[in-house]
This record gives sequence, C-alpha cells and structure tokens, in this order.
Amino acid sequence: MYRPAVVRARKRIYLEPWVTGLIAFISLIVLAVCIGLIVHYVRYNQRKTYNYYVTLSFTSDKLYDEFGQEASKNFTEMSQKIESMVKNAFHKSPIRGDFVKSHVIKFSQEEHRLLAHMLLIFRFRSTEDLETINKNIQRFLQERLQDAVGPPKVDPESIEIKKINETETDNYLNNCCGTRRNKSTNQSLRIVGGTEVEEGEWPWQASLQWDGIHRCGATLINGTWLVSAAHCFRTYKDPARWTASFGVTIKPPKMKQGLRRIIVHEKYNYPSHDYDISVAELSRPVPYTNTVHRICLPDASHEFHPGDQMFVTGFGALQNDGNSQNHLRQVQVDFIDTKICNEPQAYNDAITPRMLCAGSLKGQKDACQGDSGGPLVSPDARDIWYLAGIVSWGDECGQPNKPGVYTRVTAFRDWITSKTGI
Ligand code: ARG
Repeated sequence: MYRPAVVRARKRIYLEPWVTGLIAFISLIVLAVCIGLIVHYVRYNQRKTYNYYVTLSFTSDKLYDEFGQEASKNFTEMSQKIESMVKNAFHKSPIRGDFVKSHVIKFSQEEHRLLAHMLLIFRFRSTEDLETINKNIQRFLQERLQDAVGPPKVDPESIEIKKINETETDNYLNNCCGTRRNKSTNQSLRIVGGTEVEEGEWPWQASLQWDGIHRCGATLINGTWLVSAAHCFRTYKDPARWTASFGVTIKPPKMKQGLRRIIVHEKYNYPSHDYDISVAELSRPVPYTNTVHRICLPDASHEFHPGDQMFVTGFGALQNDGNSQNHLRQVQVDFIDTKICNEPQAYNDAITPRMLCAGSLKGQKDACQGDSGGPLVSPDARDIWYLAGIVSWGDECGQPNKPGVYTRVTAFRDWITSKTGI
C-alpha cells in the first residue's frame, strides 16, 4: 500500500529561562549531596591513630630488682606477660578491631607498689567521640583485667589512662632502646651489592670519621656512648680528630658530634683479632629522635642461636677492596655456630669465645671493609633490637666458607658496664 511520505517539520522546544535555571540548580544540589555522601563515607571509614599512656599497678612473684632493668631477660618476660594480658582484655571487647598494640616502656616502684608504664595504640574511625572512647578503654581494661590469670596480677582499680599525641608517643618510643620506626620489607642480599636502607630503619648506626673521612661504623648505646671495634683506633688515637655522624647518609648527616674519649679494650693486642672492642664517649649527648636513638645490649647470659634473625649494617665496601658508601646498607645474615665456623675449611680454630660468626657458608652475605665497628643486630619476640656483634674481621668479603667474624657482645657485657655505667 502506498503511503505518502509525511514530512514533519521538527518542532523546536524552547525552555523558559527559569526552567533552565531550575534544572541547573537541581543538578547542582544532587551533585553536592553525592559529594557530601562520598566524603562522609570515606571519612567514616578512615581510621585515625589514638595513643594512650597507661599506668597500672601489679603484684608479682618476682622482685623489682629482678625485672626492673630495661632490656634484661626478666624485663622482657614481664613486659610480654603484661602486654598479652592487656591485648586479651580487648580481645573479647567490641573495640577489638580497633586495638593495634600495647607496649611496656618501663617499670617503676613507688611505695611498695609495682607500676607498669605502657603505651596503648588504637585506630578508631574518626567519627567516634573521644570521651566515649576514653571511657570504654578504661572500662574494658578494668573489667577484663580483673579475672586475668597471673602472676602478675593487675589491680584493676589502679589503672590510669591518658590520651597523648603523636609527638609524645614518638618521644617515649625513642627513649626506649632497640625500637625502630621505619621498616622496609624488601630484603637485600648483602651489603656487598644490597639495597640502601630508609631513614630511621637502623637509628643506632653511626659513622666514625677521622679528619672527616669515614673509617668505621659504631653503635649508639645511650646518648653519649658508642660501641665500636678496637682495631678502628689502632693507628688513629686522638679523640679530637674523630667525629661521629648519624643518619642514613654520611653527607649530609642528620647529626654530627666530636669524640671526647676513646677506650680500647686492655687486652686488645694487634695483630690478634681477639678482644676487638672499644667504647667512645661523645663530646656532647645526641638528642634522641625518630632517626637517631640507641640499641639494647643483651644480658651477658644471653645466647644467640642459628635461626635467629640477624642484620648487619654499614657504609662499607660493596666488595673486597672496594670503596666506602655514602648511603647506609643492610644485609640479612645467619648466625653460624662456632663449631662449624672453626672447622678446617672455614676458620680452622681461629674463632675464640669472644667472637661469633655470621653470614652464609655459601658466601655472598657479608660485611666488608669500612663496616668494621658497626652493628650486627637481632630482634627479640617483642621486636626490640639487640646488639649481638661488632663487625671485626673476615677472609676477604662474601667468600664461601669464610663468613664474617664479629666481636661477641655478650662476652663484653660487663666490660661495657665497667667503662660506661650502662
Ligand atoms: N676489618 C674490616 C674493616 O676494617 C672489616 C672486615 C669485615 N670483613 C668481613 N668479611 N666481614 O672494616
């Protein structure tokens, strides 16, 4: 069937100006509401860190003198017990998901009361109200610590809790030995060819410089004392020409300080590597910061074992006879049993009770020239780091069956106290 084509004239729609205005206005409102909702949602889900300083009194079958000394074995055990009691207190509470960690910073004794001082860290949604949060934390601690099994036994009535800011938290942590702020997860193979470390990863590392030139590493053990190797001061003895610098780069350093006094072990006798330890006093104390603070010293009775996690750090050469580096490097090494290290194909009985071996029997993971005097460190179960060894000697660097040899710090624990009071 034939249909005539209908040619329709397109009708143009003209909107009144006020209608256009209205549509624009409504669109804007809808957009604003959407943005508002998104912002609200993001903010609601964003967590903010809340730090608290908590003191609580407790009773224990141990005397204060037995566990009061920071970084001692008993201190660590007591801290662990109290930290896990606190953790468990929040474990069954509605805020368990917001709990990050508890960290004992010290113990004190007041009028026959034993006090634990600790930091509590939470991450709450930022919308929650501060008053309620504080009350809840106090309430959960009081309720749950009541029936926590001891010893130690916490007095729930004694719990005091104070909100502190980030700077205060940092200051408390920087005053504790062996704490680290920045931890990179990428592991390097060796100082020889490994990766550079980040600021604050190894805050106790120092570079010892003679007339401004890097010679050795050293480790900060308190605000004024460094531990290093004896052989670093063999030909260079005048403290006035030595400086110690801190930070991950030698140039520019984070901090720099002259030396006032160098004490080399009385029994160090070149060319023997035995008793390769020294302590050096800074001319002025360094202030602790996130990137510069001290390591812990292990008890004299502490034994490190194969399988313990260990790192050596330094500005030393990447290979035998190489140059020192401007940027600090780290290498993960294995603790090697002295018996194995003394076997004929290794060091053939050259390892004395004052030395320890670490590295890899396969080679590759090692310290090298310029790392001498620097730290070999190991963490405990609370992730607090201890000085296990001092870079001392080795047959070249990174050779198979020739691991690095370190001064065994535990053998000199009492010597260090006798010289520095630490
Ligand atoms: N004696 C060297 C120095 O003065 C350190 C040697 C360490 N060697 C080694 N293979 N781990 O820097």
